[in-house]
Amino acid sequence: MSFENILVEQRGAVTLITLNRPQALNALNSLVLEDLIAAFAAFEADPSQRCAVLTGAGEKAFAAGADIKEMADKPAADFYSQDFFSRWTSHLVKTTRKPWIAAVNGFALGGGCELAMMADFIIAADTARFGQPEIKLGVAPGMGGSQRLTRAVGKAKAMEMCLTGRMMGAEEAERSGLVARVVPLANLLDEALKTAAEIAAMPPLAAIANKEMVNAAFETTLEQGVLLERRIFQVLTATEDKAEGMAAFIEKRPGVWQGK
Ligand code: HXC
Repeated sequence: MSFENILVEQRGAVTLITLNRPQALNALNSLVLEDLIAAFAAFEADPSQRCAVLTGAGEKAFAAGADIKEMADKPAADFYSQDFFSRWTSHLVKTTRKPWIAAVNGFALGGGCELAMMADFIIAADTARFGQPEIKLGVAPGMGGSQRLTRAVGKAKAMEMCLTGRMMGAEEAERSGLVARVVPLANLLDEALKTAAEIAAMPPLAAIANKEMVNAAFETTLEQGVLLERRIFQVLTATEDKAEGMAAFIEKRPGVWQGK
């Protein structure tokens, strides 16, 4: 598949997707959105692909936000009638059941921060900077920033960032629970791809199940979440990969997964 605004490569069982508008700091316009939706749908549908990494081209930005030039003259009625920004969540979060990682290589601002937070987790370069500066444009986050950032870093920091537009550096982002890990920029892609390959080598049904369970923690009560976890665990015990995984442990050999 080839796209104009993103690059997509398969590295073994890992799909690497790169936002590719470095001249505009990878700002997210509607063409990028269409390309991303198609790339994520292809990743989800291809049984040979088990984990994805999303990053930005260039050293400066993961994505500096939704495309301000595209939004500037757009009438409010269009934002509303097109339910602008809704397709990101429905395609990248809800329909993508396989795991994916955001490798944040620089600015992740506004929609860029929100896109990174749609990932299952973020690995950040030491140069990464996160922010929700929409207030300075007379608006507010529109792709989940006020909700996902608050859940990730808590009210105090999320509120401060949304109200002042201040950016959070990589070290603070790790300390605050926004990112899983910080690595030197030069190692970012290798580290993200290595982590993705590790996930891709796991039993695939169990990978989807683990993702589903952790995500449920954000949507349910503790009691409902723990029940869902127990039921999914019980379902997994019926899989061939469970039989193989436990046999392989007992026989002191690596497991061979069928995804069944
Ligand atoms: C369109 C953008 C852009 C954006 C940068 N560019 N961000 N174009 N949309 N979000 C373009 C610039 O216009 C410029 O193009 C080129 O990228 C390089 O950017 P500079 O500003 O020259 O770089 P620099 O001085 O290094 O500053 C970097 C920056 C700054 C601090 C990241 O670009 C910036 O503040 N960008 C906007 C960040 C932002 O507000 N994001 C939130 C958007 S709203 P030219 O052609 O001029 O050289 C959003 C949520 C939407 O995401 C929800 C609302 C409902």
